[in-house]
Amino acid sequence: MTQSQALAGSDIPDASSSGQSSAVGRLACARLTLTDFRCYDQVRLESGTQPVVLTGANGAGKTNVLEALSFLIPGSGLRRAKLMDVGRRQPGEDAGRPWAVAAEIESGLTSVSVGTGLEAATGSKRVVHVDGETQKAQSVLSQHFAAHWLTPQMDRLFLDGSQERRRFLDRLVFSFDPAHAGRITSYNHALRERARLLADNKMDDAWLSALEDTMATRGMAVAAARLQVAERLAGACTETSSLFPACELAIDGLAEGWISALPALEVEDRLRAALKSSRTKDSHVGGAGNSIDGRLPHQSDLLVTHAAKSMPAGQCSTGEQKMLLVGLVLAAARLSASDEGRVPVLLLDEVAAHLDADHRQALFNEVLALGCQAWFTGTDVELFAPLQGTAKFYDVADASITDMTP
Ligand SMILES: Nc1ncnc2c1ncn2[C@@H]1O[C@H](COP(=O)(O)OP(=O)(O)O)[C@@H](O)[C@H]1O
Ligand SMILES: [Mg+2]
Repeated sequence: MTQSQALAGSDIPDASSSGQSSAVGRLACARLTLTDFRCYDQVRLESGTQPVVLTGANGAGKTNVLEALSFLIPGSGLRRAKLMDVGRRQPGEDAGRPWAVAAEIESGLTSVSVGTGLEAATGSKRVVHVDGETQKAQSVLSQHFAAHWLTPQMDRLFLDGSQERRRFLDRLVFSFDPAHAGRITSYNHALRERARLLADNKMDDAWLSALEDTMATRGMAVAAARLQVAERLAGACTETSSLFPACELAIDGLAEGWISALPALEVEDRLRAALKSSRTKDSHVGGAGNSIDGRLPHQSDLLVTHAAKSMPAGQCSTGEQKMLLVGLVLAAARLSASDEGRVPVLLLDEVAAHLDADHRQALFNEVLALGCQAWFTGTDVELFAPLQGTAKFYDVADASITDMTP
């Protein structure tokens, strides 16, 4: 199979001819084809539009399937892997092969073929196809697919440093406002350029001011988008009779704090002034804003509080933290359904096993009520018994996947 055949992933004619319109409705990956992806040589799932349960022993290849789906949105997937590490590697091979993930994405009445992978020619570039046509940028993926994920690594989200929480929030923001990613990229680019100039002691005021201007304007937009989504999400958490605990969300950040009290232009001016005044210190310690009392947009933190207990998430029990996360992701899916008319796919890696029976049932009920295609993984198929008759069941073993749907 050639790379482009692998990316097209389908020998069945496609229902939508243009593939250009924004996806609306309930998103589902109806067919998934993996080629040289992680442990898989070649595998195809006719997953349909219902929820999917993947069960199998540790190391069988379950998370790899969810990771493949996570590459259908822009970014580096749920493991934040290097593209080269994703390609299948056999013992003795030190580099992974060019890999491909192809999917038939259904969204209500339309369907589109989306493919992505590591370009065989360069061995380093990510390539994206939509309905067989190579796309200029991976950002086009967000027109066709949206997914949220929870992984076992995220169990420490409320305990570790701010970076993961910021990333979690930014991914949620991105799902509502795809331009968010571009603003963060240009902010980070200016941040790195400025740090490089300062490290080299090039105190060129015009150059530094131009970079700080980019950081201020993009940083202001990033902060405003975060605040808006955090507010809407917290609202979506409380507006239901969900069994999952509602949370309050706040953002600890200079710009995020100023926005509620000051006009946008003034927030930008303050960011510019803060950056300018910290040049000398930043030239000694590197980065930006380390000498400023408060967090610049690349340092902001998401503060989550268990609303009913008025307790910071980091002080809640491990089980409560898990439920807060599930509640947040379900709230994001509901919000997207009500406000954008599109229900994202959920990738729930090892989530069911960590919930008590009532909350597991509540999760299944909420997923079914939303009509959302959730992909569940676990080692024990019994836990998913309530989904018999509504979900597709797959057994994963030794890098092969068997349809066990009764
Ligand atoms: N690039 C790769 N090439 C071949 N195998 C890989 C690659 N990356 C990961 N694997 C293998 O994939 C297997 C399955 O991983 P994973 O999907 O995380 O299992 P689990 O079912 O526990 O979620 C692991 O045994 C791992 O060694
Ligand atoms: Mg796993």
